[in-house]
Amino acid sequence: MEKKKFMITTPIYYASGSLHIGHCYTTVAADAIARYKRASGYDVYFMTGSDEHGQKVERKAKEAGVTPKQYVDDVVGAFLNVWKHLNISYDGFVRTTDEYHKLTAQRIFKKLYDQGDIYKSEYEGLYCTPCEAFWLERQLKDGCCPDCGRPVEKVKEESYFFRLSKYADRLIQHIRDNPDFIQPTSRTNEMLNNFLLPGLEDLCVSRTTFKWGIPVDFDERHVIYVWVDALTNYISKLGYLNDNADSKLMEKYWPCDVHLVGKEIVRFHTIIWPIMLMALGLPLPSKVFGHGWLVLEGGKMSKSKGNVVDPLVLMERYGTDAIRYFLLREVPFGSDGIFSNEALINRINTDLANDLGNMLSRTVAMIEKYFDGTVPEAQTDGETGRSLRSICETLPHDVEKHMENLRIPEALQSIWSLIDNCNKFIDDTCPWILAKGENEGDREKLASVLYHLAECMRYTAVLIAPFLPETAPRMFAQLGIEDESLMSFESLDKFGGIKVGTHVVKGEALFPRIDAKKEIAELEALFPTKEDNKAENGVEEKKKEKAEKKAEKPKESNDGMIEFSDFEKVHFRTAKVLECVPLEGSEKLLKFTLRVGDETRTILSGIRKFYNPDDLVGKTVVIVANLKPRKMCGVMSEGMILCAANDEASALSLITTLDEMQDGLTVR
Ligand code: MSP
Repeated sequence: MEKKKFMITTPIYYASGSLHIGHCYTTVAADAIARYKRASGYDVYFMTGSDEHGQKVERKAKEAGVTPKQYVDDVVGAFLNVWKHLNISYDGFVRTTDEYHKLTAQRIFKKLYDQGDIYKSEYEGLYCTPCEAFWLERQLKDGCCPDCGRPVEKVKEESYFFRLSKYADRLIQHIRDNPDFIQPTSRTNEMLNNFLLPGLEDLCVSRTTFKWGIPVDFDERHVIYVWVDALTNYISKLGYLNDNADSKLMEKYWPCDVHLVGKEIVRFHTIIWPIMLMALGLPLPSKVFGHGWLVLEGGKMSKSKGNVVDPLVLMERYGTDAIRYFLLREVPFGSDGIFSNEALINRINTDLANDLGNMLSRTVAMIEKYFDGTVPEAQTDGETGRSLRSICETLPHDVEKHMENLRIPEALQSIWSLIDNCNKFIDDTCPWILAKGENEGDREKLASVLYHLAECMRYTAVLIAPFLPETAPRMFAQLGIEDESLMSFESLDKFGGIKVGTHVVKGEALFPRIDAKKEIAELEALFPTKEDNKAENGVEEKKKEKAEKKAEKPKESNDGMIEFSDFEKVHFRTAKVLECVPLEGSEKLLKFTLRVGDETRTILSGIRKFYNPDDLVGKTVVIVANLKPRKMCGVMSEGMILCAANDEASALSLITTLDEMQDGLTVR
């Protein structure tokens, strides 16, 4: 049977400078979707590329003392290097300086001119050079570019224009008839209310004031305005109106299924691009998804502000999959997400090292210890493991549902809920007690527990492969799985794929824990993510979001219950007391030095009258690890130690773990 096709694109990136972590976000998201679709059996065409023309590149090349082509060749070389390191599995990379692209752009321009949709006139308007965009007076924000906030210039020149207005009604109808065309839905309303319904102006589609562009072949004084040049990339690579060897691609893959774009360029993709396609008589893409920005706490990062985070440095320190995971998990798809060094390290330590990595290493270690490294024969239809089996039964569908709606963080969350449940399963079944074999049937139960854990780790590895393509094979290797059919989505149809007798192989930790304090300090020196960039647009939006959040009623129902997501906000961790002394100058406080995984922390606790400090050294306590540090009696306390106490605080007891446990573990 012929496979169903799926085409996805990223925007083509301006070749005016290097890529930052924000650009990587779009491309990693598109890559995860493309990989997911391939694994689901689709014939996928995933395209990205570089947008190489325009005044800005011309100016930068001049400053660098090279030709524009030499300049973009260098920049694009660096793009390809970043994509290689990020494991971006694109099928087509389009450069707007490629010959076939030039031909397509010129032929489209001529075709539209011949049919009367493009005409020559005079342009007088306001131009934002960094954004390469024209604006009307009424569209400016405080007299400046509404996208980047920088000043615009008045320009007057002979230009060609595209009759957008002629197609506006058809486009409005299309948007109304296809509610999924622009996603998220809020952006549909924005396009309709802010641009389409007030009436479209015809669009200036050529320039005479710079040379670095594709010439209009029948009027060489003009170069094709950058957006018409750029948007046509989506079909030039497929061979439309050119003799590119790939020309069959158009027939096979067009219309595109998803154009993934940043929110500031949704307008170009949902108004100018569909109208061009209508004028060419081509079908429209099924969906344009406008994602939010990755911003710093202070506002948007941008090349021109020089406050950007270099993806290569991060990948070198933490590995490709850690960075991919952070991008895919941290940013709610469709809204802005904040990049901070703390959030990055926290995700790596918590989700990847503690949850995923630990779970795999515990599973492998227990199979080694109790069954000589061989996956044991086990019952998979009894009571033991029933809950895990039922999660595995629905998990692939849950992930699929999320991915259909491009909700990548939710897809990852679902996969992580299996890992959480495996942890709970270990706590409930206590394999180390079963291993003592004190009761009849303990050995069989232990075998079943470990079989279930190994199979759940296989499910996890198969499902995370599109998101973390380097980690999945490392998991299969440790699980001893070599048979490729056990690595496929189809193999998740039925629980019990991993073969009895498989030899597990202990390997290196998937994600070594990071010394958070040290790393964050080093990263802040490299990329100060807390820098205050008040001049940028993102800030206002974030401020508004914060104010709205404040105004929102707490998510608390009448009976005082909270949502799981509220609970998740508090990070409880086990901690080992290394030292405990009375705090000088305080009658109440004890000063604890604690080890929390790879970190050492100081925490003050007002429990002096209840304990002899020496008795507490060596104990494992539970702390709130993400409480804002607070100074008391001149000493900074970095968290809170949990105690049970009565209302009058006359009786009090520290919370510890029942069994001897490692420090730094998540308490949930
Ligand atoms: N060349 C145009 C696109 C033409 S597509 C036919 C362009 N290039 S760009 O390099 O400025 O941006 C490319 C993409 O990167 C955009 O979708 C933009 O939203 C995205 N991002 C740039 N900075 C970003 C963040 N900080 N966060 C998330 N995405 C970011 O626009």
